[in-house]
Amino acid sequence: MSDDNNTIKLLGISGSPRKKATDYIIREALKHAEEKYSAETDYFSASGKELKFCIHCDYCIRTQKGCIHEDDIVDLYEKMKWADAWIIGTPAYQGTLSAQTKTIMDRCRAVVAQDPKVFLNKVGAAAAVGGDRVGGQEPAIQAIHNFYVINEMLPVSGGSFGSNLGGTFWSKDKGGEVVGEDEEGLRGLRRTVKKLVKTAILMKQVEKQD
Ligand SMILES: Cc1cc2nc3c(=O)[nH]c(=O)nc-3n(C[C@H](O)[C@H](O)[C@H](O)COP(=O)(O)O)c2cc1C
Repeated sequence: MSDDNNTIKLLGISGSPRKKATDYIIREALKHAEEKYSAETDYFSASGKELKFCIHCDYCIRTQKGCIHEDDIVDLYEKMKWADAWIIGTPAYQGTLSAQTKTIMDRCRAVVAQDPKVFLNKVGAAAAVGGDRVGGQEPAIQAIHNFYVINEMLPVSGGSFGSNLGGTFWSKDKGGEVVGEDEEGLRGLRRTVKKLVKTAILMKQVEKQD
């Protein structure tokens, strides 16, 4: 593992229950970050995983010992802590993010209860895939950005003229092959990764000066 200020650790999360379009775009984002920016990467897919809902039992608040559930999200907590930056991808479900993506975010309450600054100044980006061209990708991304803000992370996108809120994709309900042909989506994703990496490097440099 590198402590070099110009090398960042990037975690990709796919909140799809399948290994299709969202899996494809998050793997693309990680591949781009490795090849172009020498990022160290790790990946978590919700596909095939046991992800229990937060049941608001407040075990995490009362004990500060993490979550009462022992499922696959426990491994994800470690990856989240390790990374300097995250990119969360979600399929658009009912005009917003998937239940799997939401569950992952809800369950972060447990690690934040243990250490309220656990995610402080980590940088976050988002990408969303809809079966429709305009099917709720933006509300899905905004929900992920809200999660970053609430947990004291720094949300980024690739900026105006192509990547307004992050990576937005149209799968036409046909999975990974078709989403890989969405050139505009891929352009926006690459710009988002660039901003994510550059901001994470900046944050590492600033934190070193403190
Ligand atoms: C329960 C459910 C709800 C969906 N709702 C939407 C929607 O509101 N808008 C949309 O564009 N696509 C919707 N879709 C289609 C998926 O977003 C689309 O097929 C996407 O590519 C799935 O990503 P995946 O291949 O990574 O699973 C929905 C699919 C499912 C299963």
